Amino acid sequence: MKLSGLLLIALFFSAKTFAQQTRQTLDFDKGWRFNLGEVADAEKPATSDTKWRSLNLPHDWSVEGKFSKDNPATPEGGALPGGIGWYRKSFTVPASSKGKLVYIDFDGVYQKSKVWINGHLLGFRPNGYISFRYELTPYLNFGGNNVIAVKVDNSVQPNSRWYSGSGIYRNVWLVTTAKTAINHWGTFVTTTDVSNASAKVNIKVSVKNGAPSAALVVKTTLYDALGKAVAGGGAIPSKTQLQDTVFETSTTLAVKNPTLWSVDKPYLYKAVTQVLSGKTVIDEYTTPVGIRYFNFDLDKGFSLNGKAMKILGVCDHHDLGSLGAAINTRALERQLQILKAMGCNGIRTSHNPPAPELLDLCDKMGFIVMDEAFDCWEWEKVKYDYHLYFKEWHKRDLEDQVLRDRNHPSVMIWSIGNEIPQQHDTTALRIAPELSAIVHSLDTTRPITAANNNPDKNNKIISSGAIDLVGYNYHEGEYAAFHDRYPGKKFIATETTSGLETRGFYEMPSDSIRVWPEKWDKPFEREGNNVSAYDNVRPPWGSTHEMTWKVMKKYDFLSGMFIWTGFDYLGEPTPYSWPSRSSYFGIVDLAGFPKDVYYMYQSEWTNKPVLHIFPHWNWTPGKMVDVWAYYNSADEVELFLNGKSLGTKKKTGDDLHIMWRVKYEPGTLKAVSRKDGKVVLTKLIHTAGEPARIELSADRKLIKADGKDLSFITVKILDKDGNVVPDADNLVDFKISGPAFVASVDNGDPVTHDSFKVSYRKAFHGLALAIVQAKEKAGAVTFTATSKGLPAATITLNAK
Ligand code: GAL
Repeated sequence: MKLSGLLLIALFFSAKTFAQQTRQTLDFDKGWRFNLGEVADAEKPATSDTKWRSLNLPHDWSVEGKFSKDNPATPEGGALPGGIGWYRKSFTVPASSKGKLVYIDFDGVYQKSKVWINGHLLGFRPNGYISFRYELTPYLNFGGNNVIAVKVDNSVQPNSRWYSGSGIYRNVWLVTTAKTAINHWGTFVTTTDVSNASAKVNIKVSVKNGAPSAALVVKTTLYDALGKAVAGGGAIPSKTQLQDTVFETSTTLAVKNPTLWSVDKPYLYKAVTQVLSGKTVIDEYTTPVGIRYFNFDLDKGFSLNGKAMKILGVCDHHDLGSLGAAINTRALERQLQILKAMGCNGIRTSHNPPAPELLDLCDKMGFIVMDEAFDCWEWEKVKYDYHLYFKEWHKRDLEDQVLRDRNHPSVMIWSIGNEIPQQHDTTALRIAPELSAIVHSLDTTRPITAANNNPDKNNKIISSGAIDLVGYNYHEGEYAAFHDRYPGKKFIATETTSGLETRGFYEMPSDSIRVWPEKWDKPFEREGNNVSAYDNVRPPWGSTHEMTWKVMKKYDFLSGMFIWTGFDYLGEPTPYSWPSRSSYFGIVDLAGFPKDVYYMYQSEWTNKPVLHIFPHWNWTPGKMVDVWAYYNSADEVELFLNGKSLGTKKKTGDDLHIMWRVKYEPGTLKAVSRKDGKVVLTKLIHTAGEPARIELSADRKLIKADGKDLSFITVKILDKDGNVVPDADNLVDFKISGPAFVASVDNGDPVTHDSFKVSYRKAFHGLALAIVQAKEKAGAVTFTATSKGLPAATITLNAK
């Protein structure tokens, strides 16, 4: 038994080793040269680039620039500069690779990229959010030097309604295969007849035959998460293939007692497909597999593996706050961890295809993804957006997106567009069905939606019949009547809410909802461009968090929602404009610090006991202050001020919070939640004194010495007793020694114009953030924060 197991493992690894010699996927991010601005003949290898800056990808040059309202992106686009940038990389390909095929894969270049290899133009891709591949083989010097040149043109702006970033901002890969190999995105895995007892895993494989004539065999083995083969091995002999033809084979593997993929237990299998010529493995390709089934029911809403649940999702843009658009897996993972801890289980990739790493993480961490293609079709939203390219490129871009993303178990909805201006024009009757047909030609296992901001009867996207789920953006007052309007149709809230908040800023009174700008008593102007964090400010088209969630909870047929937004993002600083340069919509601020409403969701969406009270307790004596509590797992909450009870309150009806109006006096506010008379949680807020010290805490003290890993260091300004000083805005300087550097800094303030790429930050409502990035060297990293009048604080990290 033992021996044969070992033998199997040995065989598996030897096959792998062999296959690695045929397909090799190299991280191609290192050792690039960059020049900001046009350079004549930069595509020609002979042109010197020695004076250009050296850098590693992913790279976003916009985030390195200066904020200005005069930048063509406008504050809506993040107020950072665009421009033209050139990237070049010299590299060698071993002579032994001759006879193989070599490709370069770009996960995303913003935007209008042109790529040359050794002076040959490979192509142009206008869409800055799409992944694409070029074949290099015919132009390479095998055994010699090669130069790849990429021109990125983000000079003509605005071209996105949010911050796009500029440059090769996602990963790049160099892929080498044998002449006969599985195509790019060449597998398609679906799961059918899924139950706890059994499941079928169907695998379609597309192979390109490069040999003169070959009888090839394609076989796929399914491995569980521990690497144990659980199904497959069955070989599918193909007929003799003609040279340079593509052929498809498919097979179905039966899996007994499968572990199903769910948001709570995102279990992944791995399908390893081999192409053999005779007994020789000439290609090997791995596809992650999640076995699950889901359904959108007309009346009962969404279910996963037969279990009814709601999609509790958020919309997010692709930027990573102060890191800009440059993709970093750890930064994405941190965002998802913060959202997961809130109880969130869904992500909408608004309004474009995401970085592939986001989908990998959603597969691994258990999020349901609505994968969106476009923010506009043929009509413009902003002057230079994708409408200029839609006619020529939509088919290619949409096909590439579906081919790339259709194996992710997390992806459960395709969206063919957000708030498409043509939704009330008859042209939508042509375009929507065409887009749906493109998606369905590549995947029929997921429903298609479109996010409609006017989901009324005149909406031509809906009336075209092209979408499977009717997507509502906002209009939550009309949810209840959905089936009267659209009998027999299924519902999804593609975008909701748009609540506005600044972390740590509070205005009294808190118990009336304020609509920006119409019903606001004064123009929307507050010192420092702040918005009160009581979840009571909304734009005219949106609603507060509580308003939406109350409706969503009520009806089963409301299958799910995607809140605008999980995180604050660069650009779209509604309800302000300049000097604000980033958004107020996030449940979490740009630095990753939760706003209070985060805990409303946590109290509703998780079983974890929650008691969150706010605001801070530093006011002018005598002021009437509204104290809110979000709680769960308890019958009631009692509030005390300086030991004196202010009364016990409980949520009634559809309440999501309770409130006390308290005459302020300094001291200690204490909240106690109780169930059946027993204390569940106690929370204290003390009046803070003067800033006395800095506290540093790292989300991870141990990081990988891989040049990419990050440690997020939270900086708190505390008084002598350890309370966060709620209005502290001390300027803090950072110093670092050891094999790491400060990648960026932030504090969550949408108005700060200091660069993110410096080593100092003012605290904002007592907090700041420094993001430390590993170098490729192991060792201890000492991070020190200093601020005038306060003792220095130090934290030690370890890069391994
Ligand atoms: C929606 C739009 C989003 C964002 C949001 C702000 O209408 O789809 O992209 O602009 O409004 O509230």
